[in-house]
Amino acid sequence: MDNSFYNAVMRVLDDRRSANRRENARRRAEISAKIPEFDEVDHEISSLSVKTAKKIILMKDEEAKREEADLEKKINLLSAKKISLLKANGYPENYLSPVHTCPYCDDTGYVDGKKCVCMKQISAKLLMNDKRVKAMPEDATFDRFRLDFYADTPVLNEFGTEKIPRDLARDGLLKAKDFVAGFETDKDGRSFFIHGSTGTGKTFLAGCIANALINNGYSVAFVTAFNFFDTLEKYAFKKKDSDEVDSTLSDFFLDCDLLVLDDLGTELTNSFTASRLFTYMNERITQKKSTIISSNLNLKQIRDTYGERILSRIMGSYEAISLIGRDIRRQL
Ligand SMILES: Nc1ncnc2c1ncn2[C@@H]1O[C@H](COP(=O)(O)OP(=O)(O)OP(=O)(O)O)[C@@H](O)[C@H]1O
Ligand SMILES: [Mg+2]
Repeated sequence: MDNSFYNAVMRVLDDRRSANRRENARRRAEISAKIPEFDEVDHEISSLSVKTAKKIILMKDEEAKREEADLEKKINLLSAKKISLLKANGYPENYLSPVHTCPYCDDTGYVDGKKCVCMKQISAKLLMNDKRVKAMPEDATFDRFRLDFYADTPVLNEFGTEKIPRDLARDGLLKAKDFVAGFETDKDGRSFFIHGSTGTGKTFLAGCIANALINNGYSVAFVTAFNFFDTLEKYAFKKKDSDEVDSTLSDFFLDCDLLVLDDLGTELTNSFTASRLFTYMNERITQKKSTIISSNLNLKQIRDTYGERILSRIMGSYEAISLIGRDIRRQL
């Protein structure tokens, strides 16, 4: 992680720790106000400790040890008394234990020297504000998805078969809604290939899914193919104009709950694009994470542009949604 991004993540953790410390202090004050006896016991513990500390300075080792053991016993009894006071007044016994937002790392961000899951969640939240991964139309929501833009009379699709655009759109919409509804429970990570000619609502439909999942609290990267490859390329070759969050974004493309790669085929292709695309698609399939690819390209063009391996991933692991018909931009 680059420094300034890392600092932003750490600031969030810092804020959490401060808020939790304030909550601890508030609880302590509440207990003082409600259970005066609790404070007396607390006071007794500290004065006992101070007294013993003073006493043992002048003692021989063995004698001091006995005294310390005796103190420990007394403190244990008094601590037990504090717990019973809490319970007797209707509080859970850990009411005054340090409050932590993350049970795994106690809000330090690390577990055994490794980044905690909470740190990844914080990074995801911050990254999702980067406009490059927020490329979805804001107004794309399922309730605004209109079927009447799609003709209900048959037209020829790319294979020369007659299809009714509205049926295909309805089918795509149902799949999309079903995908969102089952996102929590579906552990297989369904992926979709949305294809069709220009202006048939591919970006809009992918946007409906993305916005719905974001509203449900999931991390989503909605990126145009151009920005996707541009980010990866800058990061891979550490170009001078490489943005400081490029490396974190590249990880986010792998880690996010849903990756939408919009308009595949409009980027500048080079030897790098196909191999990167394959790595990301494959890795996400292996991790059972969902990916949506939208494209004007048909399967033959996909193969010609990106090769057999990518075609076979799309055919094997992606469900197809095809949108056909008149350009909706001309109907608006
Ligand atoms: N089903 C729909 N209901 C309402 N508005 C739609 C629908 N589909 C598309 N639109 C609107 O039509 C316009 C074109 O849609 P969109 O950008 O999704 O097409 P596209 O298939 O992604 O086109 P391109 O291939 O050029 O990227 C947008 O303004 C979008 O808001
Ligand atoms: Mg589009």
